[in-house]
Amino acid sequence: MGHDTCIEFQDVVAGYKDFMILNNLNLKIQRNAITLLIGPNGAGKSTVLKTLFGLLKPRQGKVLFDGQDISGATQKELLAKGIAFVPQGRNLFGQLTVWQNLELGGITLGTKTTHERIPEVLEFFPRVKERINSQASALSGGEQKQLEIGRALLLRPKVLLIDEPSIGLSPIVVQDVFKLLRKLVDQGTTVLMVEQNVKSALKVSDDAVALESGRCVLHKPASELLADPNIERLFLGGHVAKASI
Ligand SMILES: Nc1ncnc2c1ncn2[C@@H]1O[C@H](COP(=O)(O)OP(=O)(O)O)[C@@H](O)[C@H]1O
Ligand SMILES: [Mg+2]
Repeated sequence: MGHDTCIEFQDVVAGYKDFMILNNLNLKIQRNAITLLIGPNGAGKSTVLKTLFGLLKPRQGKVLFDGQDISGATQKELLAKGIAFVPQGRNLFGQLTVWQNLELGGITLGTKTTHERIPEVLEFFPRVKERINSQASALSGGEQKQLEIGRALLLRPKVLLIDEPSIGLSPIVVQDVFKLLRKLVDQGTTVLMVEQNVKSALKVSDDAVALESGRCVLHKPASELLADPNIERLFLGGHVAKASI
């Protein structure tokens, strides 16, 4: 099977203070695809994204991007290489306008490039575009998430890391966000997404990775997992099941 690896975790150990969360994680993320990261609360899903984005430094092992070791690189270096991160929750400057939030997102690009790219990015988000002069905090939850994604897209990332984008959004808006991710992949982006909304996320994803205690316990095509009659029992237990129906 010919697959092209974009990101690779090699035996990565990472955590907080003395408490290790990723325990010799080995994982290959396919280029130009959506990889969905699932697993119980506390499994280390967000920690995987934070390690990739330089918020945590591996204690052991390596993280490779395009075959290059990026373990310990700074966020600035990672952004310059084309890795962008949309964290969980709300991450806008609520008092500032939509336009100002976008301008700040392009701070590493310089004003000229930023101003050229803002209209391009806004083409993806007509609702946000209409509200360009509104205070960010006045947008709906869905529009705010779209603005956050737009801010990340200003950098024309090769890799987009996105943590639980569906939280607080209506099912229709979630579908819009998923469709947008699909479009980005069609244009050459690689997406690594954490999502509790497992069933609908699997439908837009190419690959599924399940983590448990900081280890990869499953890695297969999303379509295969979706067709697995045991999926409910395996991954949709407890509150995850409720959230995904
Ligand atoms: N900043 C932090 N300091 C200490 N422990 C943390 C921190 N962030 C997360 N943890 C712990 O690391 C574990 C894994 O967290 P996380 O990667 O956020 O899990 P997931 O995203 O899979 O729910 C959890 O037990 C959590 O309490
Ligand atoms: Mg998390």
